[in-house]
Amino acid sequence: MIYLDNAATTLKKPDQVIDAVVNAMRTQGNASRGAHNATLSASRVVYDARVKIAKFFNFDTPSNVIFACNSTEALNIAINGTIKEGDKVISTDTEHNSVLRPLYHLQKTKNIDLQFVNADLSGVLDLNQFERICDNKTKVVVVNHISNLTGNVNDIKTISKIAHNVGAILIVDGSQSAGTMLVDVKDLGIDIYCFTGHKGLFGPQGTGGLLVKEGVEVEAFKRGGSGVKTYEEDQPNEYPTRLEAGTLNSHGIAGLSAAIDFINEIGVENIHKKERELTEYFYNEVIKIEGIKIYGDFSSHAAIVSLNVKDYDSGEVSDALSNDYGIATRPGAHCAPRLHIALGTKYQGAVRFSFSYFTTKEELDAAINALKVIAS
Ligand SMILES: Cc1ncc(COP(=O)(O)O)c(C=O)c1O
Repeated sequence: MIYLDNAATTLKKPDQVIDAVVNAMRTQGNASRGAHNATLSASRVVYDARVKIAKFFNFDTPSNVIFACNSTEALNIAINGTIKEGDKVISTDTEHNSVLRPLYHLQKTKNIDLQFVNADLSGVLDLNQFERICDNKTKVVVVNHISNLTGNVNDIKTISKIAHNVGAILIVDGSQSAGTMLVDVKDLGIDIYCFTGHKGLFGPQGTGGLLVKEGVEVEAFKRGGSGVKTYEEDQPNEYPTRLEAGTLNSHGIAGLSAAIDFINEIGVENIHKKERELTEYFYNEVIKIEGIKIYGDFSSHAAIVSLNVKDYDSGEVSDALSNDYGIATRPGAHCAPRLHIALGTKYQGAVRFSFSYFTTKEELDAAINALKVIAS
């Protein structure tokens, strides 16, 4: 199989990630639950991972690195833990349902004033509109870093300035940016950065988390065992325990930690450069094929190319790629309803090709040739 669905999850994981998970399953007890060797081994791995992740994103406070089982959970924690009854909240057309559905839910249950910044036909956000609608009443801004449909990179630095000018908190969905580009949360001015472990970070599924800037208050999302302060009725107030009730996925976290080591050995900027070269190569070849329409703004872009062939249904094209050529892509709506509507692809969907550091030029050539045949 030629796997070009890395924006869904990276299939090829570094061997050291797999070895770390297996080793953790053989040796690790329950982190922060006691003081015997097995539990201490788990606690050390989890602590090291917090420190490593903080450094990776240039984040100052390892104890505010909160583990969750994916970015959906991280986003739910961030959104539900910061937005209050009647708050004005701004989000965008580029969001994934992991942001949209929690926000729509709060619109119904907490009567929030939810407003969206629109994307144009290339999926680019209107920053002037952002500035216009972001006023002193705005409490929280929630924005995607990279669209999982177009691959466009949103201008987080500018959005951060707009949000902070009115005293709002900025939550960023880093699902597609973590591991695929240099993310410096301090430089970008992010208050809460949510990430998933199984995509660009090459970690196991079931890992992810959020980085909560010091001083930002996020209410507990779930409550339960923490291994500390057992006789207190409330969830302990300190991070990370405030947001981490229950046994952690320390086996997965061991894998995620090894994955960060792998990325650091290569250099995240080198990974970004290689993915960018692959994307440009694919884009420049595919754009020449008659009948193919590509979506997105390729001036600032991740390793994603979404396209359609004439007016063919995206599901049929993706099936043909899989059944006739052994090429895995993702058709349909990509959990991005507002952006598909903005691009005019609500009914056709789009065929998404997404690459990773392990993708080869030969694999791209096979996909390009397959598209030529399908389009003709
Ligand atoms: C932009 C974006 N946000 C959120 C998610 C949800 O990620 P997860 O399924 O790992 O929670 C995805 C995954 O496709 C995504 O691409």
